[in-house]
Amino acid sequence: MGVHRTLYKSCKLLPPLCVFLHLFFVYVSGFGSMAPISAAFGPDGFFCAIDASGKQEVICWGKNSSSLSPSSSSSTSIFSVDIPAMAALSGGEGFLCGILSNTSHAYCWDSINPGTDLVPLVFRATAYSHIAAGKSHVCAIRGSYYSDGDLGPVDCWDISRDSINNKSLSSKQSSLFYNQSIASLVFKRVVSGEGFSCAELRDGGILCWGPNSTNLDVPNVSEKFVALAAGQDAVCGISEVSGGVKCWGSADSFVGLPETAGYVTLTAGERHFCGIRRDTHEVDCWGSLNSSLIPKNTGFMTIASSDRAICGIREDNLVLDCWFSHSPEAPPGYDPPLELCSPGLCAPGPCREGEFSFNASILNEPDLKSLCVRKDLNICIRCGLNCSDGHFLSSPCTLNSDRICTACSLCQNSSCWDTCGVPSSPETKQTHWHQWRRILLIVGGSVAGLVLILLGWCVHTRIIGSKKDGSGSKKHHNSELETGTETDSCAPLVPLCPGIPQIFRLSELKDATNGFKEFNEVGRGRYGFVYKAVLGDGQQVAVKRANAATIIHTNSRDFEMELDILCKIRHCNIVNLLGYCCEMGERLLVYEFMPHGTLHDHLHGGLSPLNWSLRFKIAMQAARGLEYLHNELVPPLVHQNVKTSNILLDFHWGARIADFGLIASNDDNDDAGADLTRDVYDFGIVLLEIISGRKGYDRDYTPSSIVEWAVPLIKQGKAAAIIDRYAILPRNVEPLLKLADIAELAVRGNPSKRPTISDIASWLDQIVKDGLIL
Ligand SMILES: *[C@@H]1O[C@H](CO)[C@@H](O)[C@H](O)[C@H]1NC(C)=O
Ligand SMILES: *[C@@H]1O[C@H](CO)[C@@H](O)[C@H](O)[C@H]1NC(C)=O
Ligand SMILES: *[C@@H]1O[C@H](CO)[C@@H](O)[C@H](O)[C@H]1NC(C)=O
Ligand SMILES: *[C@@H]1O[C@H](CO)[C@@H](O)[C@H](O)[C@H]1NC(C)=O
Ligand SMILES: *[C@@H]1O[C@H](CO)[C@@H](O)[C@H](O)[C@H]1NC(C)=O
Ligand SMILES: *[C@@H]1O[C@H](CO)[C@@H](O)[C@H](O)[C@H]1NC(C)=O
Repeated sequence: MGVHRTLYKSCKLLPPLCVFLHLFFVYVSGFGSMAPISAAFGPDGFFCAIDASGKQEVICWGKNSSSLSPSSSSSTSIFSVDIPAMAALSGGEGFLCGILSNTSHAYCWDSINPGTDLVPLVFRATAYSHIAAGKSHVCAIRGSYYSDGDLGPVDCWDISRDSINNKSLSSKQSSLFYNQSIASLVFKRVVSGEGFSCAELRDGGILCWGPNSTNLDVPNVSEKFVALAAGQDAVCGISEVSGGVKCWGSADSFVGLPETAGYVTLTAGERHFCGIRRDTHEVDCWGSLNSSLIPKNTGFMTIASSDRAICGIREDNLVLDCWFSHSPEAPPGYDPPLELCSPGLCAPGPCREGEFSFNASILNEPDLKSLCVRKDLNICIRCGLNCSDGHFLSSPCTLNSDRICTACSLCQNSSCWDTCGVPSSPETKQTHWHQWRRILLIVGGSVAGLVLILLGWCVHTRIIGSKKDGSGSKKHHNSELETGTETDSCAPLVPLCPGIPQIFRLSELKDATNGFKEFNEVGRGRYGFVYKAVLGDGQQVAVKRANAATIIHTNSRDFEMELDILCKIRHCNIVNLLGYCCEMGERLLVYEFMPHGTLHDHLHGGLSPLNWSLRFKIAMQAARGLEYLHNELVPPLVHQNVKTSNILLDFHWGARIADFGLIASNDDNDDAGADLTRDVYDFGIVLLEIISGRKGYDRDYTPSSIVEWAVPLIKQGKAAAIIDRYAILPRNVEPLLKLADIAELAVRGNPSKRPTISDIASWLDQIVKDGLIL
């Protein structure tokens, strides 16, 4: 099932998403060379891309003229049903052309009637290897698309508005583009602009023809190119030898052409060009374009340009992304559909030197073996060269993977000192410290001033009790988690402390932390420092050590109570206390060690990004941890500080709640009730962060508050717009939209309208049970 088919399916179930998708209107302008994504320009403009389903199906979005009526002039749509599978695409004014994936025949269509072939009858039975749509003409090179290195003569046809019925397009064999001397030549690749086409000859060198070709002044030299692109009145190519770009024609279209950078691919807008850099895979544009709109620090595999929008396929997850010349944020309805798309063109034979074959396994879609219709086809992509500043080459380009650049902060030995510089010793220490810090974050903070007054008193006092034994309860949930990837979510509690915290000797913990040495430090809070420790039996634990201030400002009654509560809290979604030590004036708490750090650092920091199945699992388990605090402890325990940095990830990637504040349990039930809804609100923010990858508060955005930004979009049925595009989208986005709805309920302004944490936990359970496809 194609990716977009699933989207359609989810459309049926999810009207809000469909409304959102149908609001699309993209006025685009672009010129053709051949690519897996392309723009038709003009008033009836639209974009199309080859999807990642492995069937080379085409997904198009933009204005659908068939629904054009005075009242719905801005209606937009996604359409694809009538368009056959394609090997390559190229856009003209109001139409797009492609080469059929099964027969190599040409096929041209518009958005009114995508099922109608606009190719003139005389050319419909001819196989083509290349196709290029200009403003109102198309030129294509004869030969089979899938026969490697085929050269052939060129055919051209005109596609223009019918003079009688201004709405529809008609086509005919081109006389303007027929030229006896061109007809007798064979070509390697072709591009088309406004009133001209240019093609590369077998041994290099570019030849241009057509009524407007004379202004181009392409020199008569036999240079070879790896890619060409034609705009309205200019043509650019990437030199095979230097990787640099050369342009000819109207200089306005290529002012500011970067002289030194190398590029892997090019696209042309009307009067500008864009290329993907060979080093960073970022997009650079030149010519008449406001370049402030180009995204930085984002790598792309392929792009298509128009004057209003540039769309590309992101290299890290193959998600479609578009950006716009008139505003940094997409105007309403302008976002591209939620689709995974092909990063390149499928072609026969092995890849050439300097290229790698794209491996679909990075998509993490179990039933997706290839993005091409046939086994013998590959998507060959030019390898990146070098790395951007602050990165070193950690793995070179191989036959099936691109070169990998790694941040210099992870440089560990002489192999990267040349690039990153030899670290001086204090820096090394700092890096070390930071790495540890990331591995385990502060478990402490609001349990401020927890000091152990009496050894072993946990055993005696019983202020609160647990209704259920956390480790034994809710086993049935585990089966619901079998989404196929991760191991069992809820690891059994470490048997070290079966309900009763162990009393540690100071000497033991000193040894385990190398004498509380700096390099064992993994965080600090108001309470003091947190250290990673390895006990004599090899078990890793986290040790919280009270600082002097904490010890001095101690109210012994509160501590007694707090420690007593901590001793009672046992749940597989909580960072549990294992034991403590109280000797020589030291106050030490020993916790389970959380090797995968905090949710915050995975979402916003440098730690590995999380896939959707893991995000759902984490959301559900964190909700269960909170549910335990709220509902299974008597009296309920309000966390008071629910946030992504207080959700830690254990060895099995299970979510654990840490750092709960202990209520001064004054038995005021009303207050406790209000506090519980505050936890729910904070958890709603956590859910929004999980969905969007954005921080709860981020000054770089307007509005800065995630709630102010996301809630209006969710309420308007545009939840798709907040989904984190850095995570590979699941085939079925429905669960993500449901998650957004849950988050919206949790952050309701009126606390009495918020659901309870139990409601949320069971909804999340249900979503996971229903199966998040990944
Ligand atoms: C190629 O695909 C088109 C559209 O899917 C279909 O109509 C046609 O019959 C196919 N041709 C062959 C030879 O398979
Ligand atoms: C040639 O260029 C001019 C001006 O740029 C344009 O008006 C004309 O339509 C072009 N010719 C063709 C055949 O596209
Ligand atoms: C380019 O776009 C930015 C952001 O939209 C805007 O602030 C700036 O004025 C624009 N510059 C030009 C020359 O249009
Ligand atoms: C793709 O990558 C996977 C895992 O890295 C590997 O097992 C597989 O052989 C690769 N496929 C190809 C065609 O190289
Ligand atoms: C980029 O890499 C190439 C080949 O690995 C090397 O020859 C070249 O000097 C590098 N360029 C820079 C600027 O580092
Ligand atoms: C340097 O460290 C990297 C990991 O950062 C490792 O893969 C590589 O083998 C190391 N090289 C040497 C020479 O130790």
